[in-house]
Amino acid sequence: MGLTRIRSVGRCLADKIVTNDDLAGLMETDDEWIQQRSGIQQRHHISENTGPADLGAVAARQALDRAGLEPGDIDCILFGTLSPDYDMPASACVLQDRLGIPDVPAMDVRNQCTGFLYGLTVADAFIQAGRYERVLLVGGEVHSTGLDFTTRGRQVAVLFGDGAGAAVIERGDDDERGILSTHLHSDGKFADKLWLEAVSARAPHRLTEEMITSDDPPIFPKMQGRYVFKHAVTRSAEAIREAVAAGGYSVSDIDLLVPHQANLRINQAVAMALEFPEEKVVNNIQKLGNTTAATIPIALYDALEDGRLNEGDLVCLVAFGAGFTWASVLLRW
Ligand code: ACO
Repeated sequence: MGLTRIRSVGRCLADKIVTNDDLAGLMETDDEWIQQRSGIQQRHHISENTGPADLGAVAARQALDRAGLEPGDIDCILFGTLSPDYDMPASACVLQDRLGIPDVPAMDVRNQCTGFLYGLTVADAFIQAGRYERVLLVGGEVHSTGLDFTTRGRQVAVLFGDGAGAAVIERGDDDERGILSTHLHSDGKFADKLWLEAVSARAPHRLTEEMITSDDPPIFPKMQGRYVFKHAVTRSAEAIREAVAAGGYSVSDIDLLVPHQANLRINQAVAMALEFPEEKVVNNIQKLGNTTAATIPIALYDALEDGRLNEGDLVCLVAFGAGFTWASVLLRW
């Protein structure tokens, strides 16, 4: 009975690099404001006609290759996304078709920035229950086709990027290496602090011309930025403390903290609140922006490539996002 482990990861970045100066050509913003408030220097956007499942398929193939596996070795697909290819069916089903793995269960996890950690928890539960042997968990987003790139939408539009990360998850043969604990939280009373109101089944007509042409269109995401920022710092710090306490560790035992990438300042504030050294925090938002459900698998990929993530490391993953939802996972790599 070994612990569940992440056997391999892969990533796919959208093909077009969009700098802060590029955005300044579309709206009233500038490189200094964006970098100062968020740490972001650039992000990737898709060129055209690419969905999260397309990016996810590239990331998934890379993760499979790195594990020496074929798509047919997967017996369950989970897909974390807030920007699915279609309202229905699930992006997991679209990905399944791209990978050519018929007849395995495929399911979306619609938990925004915490989608990967919710998905990891579901995968761990499935595997430990003996239900599935090897789960492919993908986080994939195409934000760029759903943002308001005028000055009206600048608070949100500058933050997000397109990309996907994938992980092959299975039971290991070690009782000490793998997922040690997972911790999920949500509080729906904060739903309207960070949300995308349309297209909504509550509206008499789901999409009207007025929704598109109004001064305050519900078709774009809205966020009470400062409010979200404060909650993100508090809840992330709490979730990290919860994860280490569950394992009988203290924060200083963590070798690598891999947080969601919503804002570099959030991650710096969390490290400061925990008196945790910033050099042990993985941050790549500077180059990628916020890719929501994809941030953590991409950060794991980057940390492995950079040699920062090594066998035996105590790793804490943490995320906070719309819902509000927040989560942490403690694992021994
Ligand atoms: N360029 C220039 N000026 C801007 C921009 C921009 N892109 N965006 C906003 N401003 C202006 C505002 O209009 C405002 O001007 P005013 O003072 O004249 O009214 C001023 O800058 C300050 O705006 P704030 O929104 O208060 O700026 P803040 O310092 O809070 O930074 C930010 C905004 C970066 C969005 C920050 O609040 C944040 O990161 N919040 C949390 C994001 C987050 O964690 N999201 C959760 C995950 S996302 C998910 O789950 C989908």
